[in-house]
Amino acid sequence: MSLLIKNGRIITATDAYVADILVEGETIRAIGKDLSLHADETIDATGLLVFPGGIDPHVHLDMPFMGTFSSDTHETGTRAALHGGTTTVIDFVLQKQGHSLKDALADWNSRAEGTAVGDYSFHMAVTDFNENTRAEIREMIEQEGITSFKTFMAYKGALMIDDRQMVALMQEVKKQGGMVTVHATNGDVIDYLVAKHRAEGKLAPLYHYLSQPEMTEAEASGRFADMADYTGCPAYIVHLTCEGALNAVRNATRRNQKVFVETCIQYLILDASLYENDFEGAKWVMSPPLREKKDQTTLWAGINQGLVQVVATDHCPFMWEQKLMGKDDFSKIPNGHPAIENRMELLYSEGVHTGKITLNKYVEVACTNPAKIFGLFPKKGTIAVGSDADLVLFDPAEKHVISAKTHHMNVDYSAYEGREINGKVKTVLLRGTVAIDNGNCLVEKGYGKFIKRNKVSGTI
Ligand code: URP
Ligand code: ZN
Ligand code: ZN
Repeated sequence: MSLLIKNGRIITATDAYVADILVEGETIRAIGKDLSLHADETIDATGLLVFPGGIDPHVHLDMPFMGTFSSDTHETGTRAALHGGTTTVIDFVLQKQGHSLKDALADWNSRAEGTAVGDYSFHMAVTDFNENTRAEIREMIEQEGITSFKTFMAYKGALMIDDRQMVALMQEVKKQGGMVTVHATNGDVIDYLVAKHRAEGKLAPLYHYLSQPEMTEAEASGRFADMADYTGCPAYIVHLTCEGALNAVRNATRRNQKVFVETCIQYLILDASLYENDFEGAKWVMSPPLREKKDQTTLWAGINQGLVQVVATDHCPFMWEQKLMGKDDFSKIPNGHPAIENRMELLYSEGVHTGKITLNKYVEVACTNPAKIFGLFPKKGTIAVGSDADLVLFDPAEKHVISAKTHHMNVDYSAYEGREINGKVKTVLLRGTVAIDNGNCLVEKGYGKFIKRNKVSGTI
């Protein structure tokens, strides 16, 4: 099958130009002005922007967490992602403490294989680093194509590793050609504040926010950067939210260190005032919590300064019924919010449409940098001859409103209900096949492929 996309305005991280794209099979075969090549099918993209398929490198699908499972499966989550213009996601496999990485991977494969609609890859979360785990790092990278290792500096007793394990893991991962990523918050301080608030009878969602002050993230981000500098390990901080943490990274650049930074769409556009509405605030109970307006300003500036390279979602949805597990105690509210479907449109509307970032920067942080940082480039993340034909045809002039009534995520509320959006995903191609057309999903469960990733260098 071949497909010719005519007259779209192609946007990459560096260019913007009107041209035609010829797709053959799963791949982009030619790009040029007024291509007069035969194709089985033609799409007229006049007036539309053409982006590379979005890459969301931080999602939690069907994940056991806080006594329940995140409510999107690999099927529903990747389908919703496609609707929103995200063609590839990177999900997190969680090692169980006392068990192997291999067992964890088998567990995730048993849920994901044959069910995904869009393409996906895995990060491996190392929650128990020991001599047995050390021996598995190489295999994960060489055999499984899993080249990034997630760590948690919080969630003690379930996911957190200590600094001894962190440094040892970094040394091994560096040796084998991978990267260490981190949830950087000071777990001990958070646990102290959670216990204190509970003892004082302060149990509303607001106290989730007050138990994770900016300092907890700034301190851990700086500590992580120091350990990465000492070991020379490629390093990436996930879901960075605030000025203090970004300043820790800024400091690291003064010794010519590169620490990649991901923020998430919610931290750019939502703020902590949402926790003031009693239990309604549970919709936005996530870790780290939403921050202040001044942090939003810092993050937008960080994107433009090149200090923040990626905008992800940390998509970790829970049904309202699940959020109610913490009705009488904020510490029992499953942490996370739904956004996998909304990221590309929200970032366009709130970033590009408002003039905060350019179109090229948009593609850079939503598509190209995640691909480069995590070893998917140039197969994914750009529009170039030889790349996968993962393409988003986007109408910048169409307005719409986000609602749980119309979204495709398996969750019964929207964290962005009623928000007006400028710009809409119209058509999405995944590996040369039209996956989404005007709100209809045309590919089946099982179309999504697991994508093995290349080794990473820690520079892009
Ligand atoms: O609240 C969050 N972020 N839930 C998912 C787990 C994590 O920390 O990323
Ligand atoms: Zn996290
Ligand atoms: Zn997460």
